[in-house]
Amino acid sequence: WPLHLPWIDAIARLKRERGAVIMAHSYQSPEIFHGVADVTGDSLALAQAAADCDAELIVLCGVHFMAETAKILAPNRTVLIPDLEAGCSLASSITAADVRALRAQHPGAPVVTYVNTSAAVKAESDACCTSANAVQVVEAMGADKVIFLPDRFLGSHVASQTGIELVLWNGVCEVHEQFTVQQARHARERFDAVLVAHPECPPEVQAEADFVGSTTAMGRWLERERPDRVALITECSMADNLRTRFPQIEFIKPCNLCPHMKRITLPNIHACLSELRHEVTVPDDVAVKARRALERMLAIGR
Ligand code: 13P
Ligand code: SF4
Repeated sequence: WPLHLPWIDAIARLKRERGAVIMAHSYQSPEIFHGVADVTGDSLALAQAAADCDAELIVLCGVHFMAETAKILAPNRTVLIPDLEAGCSLASSITAADVRALRAQHPGAPVVTYVNTSAAVKAESDACCTSANAVQVVEAMGADKVIFLPDRFLGSHVASQTGIELVLWNGVCEVHEQFTVQQARHARERFDAVLVAHPECPPEVQAEADFVGSTTAMGRWLERERPDRVALITECSMADNLRTRFPQIEFIKPCNLCPHMKRITLPNIHACLSELRHEVTVPDDVAVKARRALERMLAIGR
């Protein structure tokens, strides 16, 4: 990416001066993912990396809930996000008061919360999960009925894998809900592609897929299966980033862009490091409770 090189060099210099670690989610653009990040991966990988981080300063290239999660798991580090407005339709679909109301309606049922939520919602939960370990976390609750929030599509995937009764919320990812069965079938029939879908996709799209998994799990599956042609039914940068890792695989559209992930750019990463902004903080009382739910998730692992 020749046009990006001056920014990449300047960020590398600043990063060294500041002693910072840059963590980037799989949906970050290649010039960020490959160009400046020290740690890359799915939401679970970034949470694990934050919990184990030795650096004083973490720059989280992803959306706000990921930076909050990093701060909760690394309370003594400074966590910066290049754009505070990088949100998520799932995180904004539910409040802490909603979780309390659901608990009152379903007494005794544990609450498992997808990490795509605010710290305040995590603080009301028994355990968090990501798309990489939702099934394992729900099973670890040892309950016949679990309140699973807020992604109803991930929830129906987990219900189909576990047979456990799940109380769902009406949240969806605005990026993945747009994929259709027609697009999936078109990729398979027209291009003879295998289909790999994220569990935030609608259930009928997941049903068409050869593999359903988190963004890191997608890469691992390709490593094992090595198909000639694949359609990754997820955010567009996923294919862009994996193309470099698997040059022999042909990546077929469809894909959708996440407008929140795309708020992070090389210029605002540079500004973030040079001006030390925007710091993400979580009130102590919320962080203590949210950390318990996140640590339960980390103990279960992948
Ligand atoms: P992961 O599968 O990487 O956890 O991604 C979920 C997501 O949508 C992050 O925005
Ligand atoms: Fe949220 Fe979907 Fe964007 Fe991920 S891809 S940050 S779940 S809106």
